[in-house]
Amino acid sequence: MSLLPDRFADQIAGHMAGQQVCVTGGAGFIGGHLVDALIALGAFVTVIDDLSNASARSVAQAMDRAPDRIRFIQASILDPEAMNLAVEGARNVFHLAALGSVPMSIQDPVRNWVVNATGSMRVLQAAKAARVQRVIHSASSSAYGNHPELPKCESMAPRPESPYAAAKYAGESLMRAWAACYEIDTISLRYFNIFGPRQATDSAYAAVIPALVTRYLTGQSPIIYGSGEQTRDFTHVSNAVAANLLAAVAQEPLKGQVVNVGAGVQTSINELATMIAEILRMTEIKVQYEPERVGEVFHSVSCIDLAKTVIGYEPTTSIEAGLEQTIRWYADEHKKQASSQSEAS
Ligand SMILES: NC(=O)c1ccc[n+]([C@@H]2O[C@H](COP(=O)([O-])OP(=O)(O)OC[C@H]3O[C@@H](n4cnc5c(N)ncnc54)[C@H](O)[C@@H]3O)[C@@H](O)[C@H]2O)c1
Repeated sequence: MSLLPDRFADQIAGHMAGQQVCVTGGAGFIGGHLVDALIALGAFVTVIDDLSNASARSVAQAMDRAPDRIRFIQASILDPEAMNLAVEGARNVFHLAALGSVPMSIQDPVRNWVVNATGSMRVLQAAKAARVQRVIHSASSSAYGNHPELPKCESMAPRPESPYAAAKYAGESLMRAWAACYEIDTISLRYFNIFGPRQATDSAYAAVIPALVTRYLTGQSPIIYGSGEQTRDFTHVSNAVAANLLAAVAQEPLKGQVVNVGAGVQTSINELATMIAEILRMTEIKVQYEPERVGEVFHSVSCIDLAKTVIGYEPTTSIEAGLEQTIRWYADEHKKQASSQSEAS
């Protein structure tokens, strides 16, 4: 599955070849896929990541493919010197670095705020000083909270219901303010549950798809918090990558606008578990239900009309095709791990 759908390739390729860009959080799940696409398009990429929630594996692999076109700075976005170095000469900054977990933000709201809100301001300050043309900010659909109306549209008043959502929403406000006050263009992409290969499985904070797939692959009952009737708009990572690239090449000033990046399809967690079990042919394994988690949103699905108008975004990978590809990737990883463990023992 191509990370950059053919229908967008022509529109984007000409603009990106030879262009210098910076990706904050480029060692992470979505950032790593974006870096791969940028390298494939011929861009020169600087990644800044403190590796607090990633290994250097995907960056190292990208460096093997294009050693002259990727530079890695292992540092925090909160470090002004490192940030200034990272954005030097960049035309676009893709800002993805953040602490991404809602439960972790409830446990440590101050750290969450410092990285996700203050950190976004540090990125903007460095970008402004370096005369970067546009900052493309990874925002979150959690800004909508439990707004009863569906689908979630950008015109709805935000209702952040966790420290994570509040800080990500503050990031959007900063993007808008900097575009209004300074010579810099910005946009916030409100992602809806992005999934795909390389999304972390190995923590208590794992996202629902890697968490469920890992339980199935290890023969354990998948755990669902709450009734499982809560819904999400699961969006394959190729769609998020395409949205970032389309935002970077948009001709008109984007002026801090906020646009949804989703697939526009509502799927319950129970339906998701069934889809995964069917793909893995493990329907005999029964789901285990645990109490609902605090701060969780009940229903979520995006309206993507504005993203279409503003940046020409359309999802091109469906949940079904994306899940097949993602599960295949996890199954391969699981096999590799099992065989290296049996060799070691
Ligand atoms: N995955 C989703 O479904 C989703 C949904 C909505 C929004 N987002 C946003 O998209 C972005 C990327 O998310 P992801 O799923 O790839 O998460 P991720 O954790 O895999 O990637 C984030 C990266 O940022 C790095 N990082 C954290 N703090 C840093 C700091 N202070 N300085 C430098 N690097 C730092 C981490 O090491 C990690 O590599 C985040 O901004 C997240 O809030 C993700």
